[in-house]
This record gives sequence, C-alpha cells and structure tokens, in this order.
Amino acid sequence: MSENAAAAAPATTAHTATTAGTAATAPAPAGSAGGGSRPVRGATRERALAALEAARRRTLALTDCLDEAELTAQHSKLMSPLAWDLAHVGNQEDIWLLREAGTGSGVRPDLDDVYDAFQTPRADRPALPMLSPDAARAYIADVRARVLEVLAGAPPEGADERLFEGDFVFGMVAQHEQQHDETMLATHQLRRGPAVLDAPDPPAPTSRARDERHGEVLVPAGPFTMGTSDEPWALDNERPAHTVEVAAFRLDAVPVTNGAYQRFIDDGGYRDPRWWHPEGWEYVQRAELGAPLFWRRDEDADGMWVRRRFGYTERVPPGEPVMHVSWYEADAYARWAGRRLPTEAEWEKAARHDPETGVSRRYPWGDADPDEGLANLGQRHLRPAPAGAYAAGAAPCGARQLIGDVWEWTSSDFTAYPGFAAFPYREYSEVFFGDGYKVLRGGSFGTAEVACRGTFRNWDLPLRRQIFAGFRTARDADAADTGASADGNSR
Ligand SMILES: [Fe+2]
Repeated sequence: MSENAAAAAPATTAHTATTAGTAATAPAPAGSAGGGSRPVRGATRERALAALEAARRRTLALTDCLDEAELTAQHSKLMSPLAWDLAHVGNQEDIWLLREAGTGSGVRPDLDDVYDAFQTPRADRPALPMLSPDAARAYIADVRARVLEVLAGAPPEGADERLFEGDFVFGMVAQHEQQHDETMLATHQLRRGPAVLDAPDPPAPTSRARDERHGEVLVPAGPFTMGTSDEPWALDNERPAHTVEVAAFRLDAVPVTNGAYQRFIDDGGYRDPRWWHPEGWEYVQRAELGAPLFWRRDEDADGMWVRRRFGYTERVPPGEPVMHVSWYEADAYARWAGRRLPTEAEWEKAARHDPETGVSRRYPWGDADPDEGLANLGQRHLRPAPAGAYAAGAAPCGARQLIGDVWEWTSSDFTAYPGFAAFPYREYSEVFFGDGYKVLRGGSFGTAEVACRGTFRNWDLPLRRQIFAGFRTARDADAADTGASADGNSR
C-alpha cells in the first residue's frame, strides 16, 4: 500500500520542497480574496502566532511523556515512529514558513528527503536516518525561533502573495502540525504499555437529554451553500462555495452509540453478508473482524465487552458514540438498521444550513469559534462525550455533536468541488481525489479547533479503523415529511 493510501488524514500530505514551482504557478483558489493586494496584517497574525504556539505545546506534550525507545519505536505499521512526526512538523515549517514565506534559506534542507511523507511510506520510516528525539526537539525549536521573525515582518519580495492572504500559510502550517498531533494521538492509542496521558472526562448530557430517545431530525428539501470561499484558513479542497440541492432527509440526532452498535453485533451483523458491501464482506472475513478495533470480550466477566483506551482497559460505555469502526462497518450497520450513511452534502447541510436566513454557518451553533461548552475538540478529553451532550452546540435542525467527539463517515467519495483549484500544491488534496477514499466530517475529540470547521473534509480508505471515527445514519424523508415541506411548514 502506498504512503498516500496509508494516509490517515490530510495531516500526512507532503508539502515537498519540489512543489515550490507548483505553488508559484498554481491558479488562485476560487473564491479567494483576489486582487493581488497585500493582506491587512494584525488580527490574523495574532491568531497565527497563537495557533502555532498551541500546536507546539501539544506536540511536545505528546512526545515529552515517552522515553527515546518509545519515541523511535513503530507502534503500528500504519503509523510513523513518533520521533519522525516530531521532526516532520518542523521540517514542513522549515519549508513553508522559512523558505516559501520567509527569506529563503531554511534551517536544514538536507533533511527534506527523510521527512518527505510522499517519498517514505509509513511502514518504512523506522529505517530512515531520523534525528534522535533530542535532535528533533532542537531542530524544530530552531525553526520556530526563526519563524517568529518571519511572523513579525512583511512578506519578502518575490513571495507568492496568495500565501499571505489572511495569513493562510501560517494557518496551514499550524493546522498541519495539529493534524499530525491527532495522528500522534492515534499512535498513542495503538501503543501498548502503561498509560501516559490523562484528561478529565467530557461533560455528561443534561438529565433530559440522557432520558430522551434521541431519534432523528428532519432536514427539509432545498438548496444550501456547501464549501467556503471566504474562510481564510480553509484548505483548497473546501473551496469554493457552491450551491447544492439536497432532497429532504432524516438524520440521527446524535452519533450511533456503542450500545446500539452492540445490538448489531449481538444480532450476528458481522456474520451476515446481506448487510455488507461486497468488498467489506471480503475484508471482514479475511481480517476476522467481529467488533470495533480495541474491543474484546472479558471472559472473566460473563463475556462483557471491554476496550483498551490510552493504556486503560475499561467496560465499553454504552452511551458513548462508537468509534474505531471502518467505513465498511458503518455502512453495514446502517444497512442492518434499515438506513444508510448520509452523503457528504447531507451532513454539511445538517451542520451548517440556517433555514431562517438561508445562509450556511461556520459551525452548527453559528459563526463563533468552538469552545469547551460547544464541542468536544482539542484533546481536552481523551474520549467522546456521551451521545446527547453539548446541547449548546446543536445545529438548527436539532442534531448534536456534529462537530467534535468522533469523525463521522459519510457515503461520499473524496472528490473535487466544482471550480476546485489546487493550492498551494497538488499533493495537498488533488492527488487523493477519486482514489477510493471516503469522506469523514466533523472532527473528533482529538481534532484541534483550528483544524475543524463545518466545511472541513477529512478522507481515508474504507477499511481504516485506527482513526477516531464513528458515524450516524440517515434515510430519505417519507411522504409525510415531504408533504410538510410542500405546505411550507418546515422551511
Ligand atoms: Fe505531514
């Protein structure tokens, strides 16, 4: 499997030095501010500095807790040694913020080949002449010190002005580091050994939400604006904004829970080919799957399901969104339940469309940035919150937890929006289009705020389970729903 195929997220895309020519000649992203004028700096620079510093604090926290042997070991063939990620984020910063956006010299161009994600498949990375963890820390600190000078100055003569629109390039690098941090968190979850991470539990649902049957919400038929042309740090694959017509549909109000998923298991779901995509059925048999990754039955406790979570073994909590399931498993569950996965457009309409104004919001709750009362993001907690939490973060349609908690598989393939233009280089998104990747939406508890928006698109292969992915299900609206829409009552 190629490195691209092993990529868990845009986190692992490459940004090679050799793409500089691409960056210099690529057309402007559709919907970008345009005009070629110098951006107004100030607020976005402060945001950029804060985002870069937050990413670095997290990177160091994820690596300082392990010794050199653990940092250089490969905990799974699907993942890089943590020491590789550690230096890779600094190498990308070296390339993009010192050489592309800065004065051009960089700190260690000689390291580019070792830390090029496209040249080196993850499985092969332990054999690379990597920097030691201490040398990696010194390297990325050296790069960062010089980046602070770039941040304080004006764009250099000859720099690609589009990189500086809204300080995009700094936001891109901060998001890149945070995406690797989420990948490193997934490595922590795959790692064996005693727990080294800790965090408080997320908030429980209100008593009313806990008692109610969550059910489903109706999203009436009609057009909505998908994607964005004006979010300054949105990546090329989220652009441009465009109108999409969506038929009326019903969506689970909350993600599918462990308890609900367990009923699928108990009903023999993994042994019945009726529920499975043909490739999924072949995969389930070959890999002998019978439950989400990290689950096992505790034979000392009447076969109760337990799971391993960041070094702890615990009973599988029935009210929490299921995670570590592949797209194939999500697809099979939905078919077993007489439903289907939502399309990517359905998911985004549910998350962003405001029927009062007809405008798409940045987030389900509005345009305000996420905070701890709205969504479970940023590794503030080391697990999803129980289904029904975060009432304040609900979308206009009533669905909760669309942002944060677990990535949500959609039925859609990862493809370009109409009017897509690669920026700042093809390897960011374009080379992944139409290559069998499925889109995930909404971010997880391990996704940083800066790397999560209502428009953000993640993608992975349908068999992957190591990411923090769950799902919710949907169905076409029935005749009664459509009648309500025709009466104008549901707009
Ligand atoms: Fe990367």
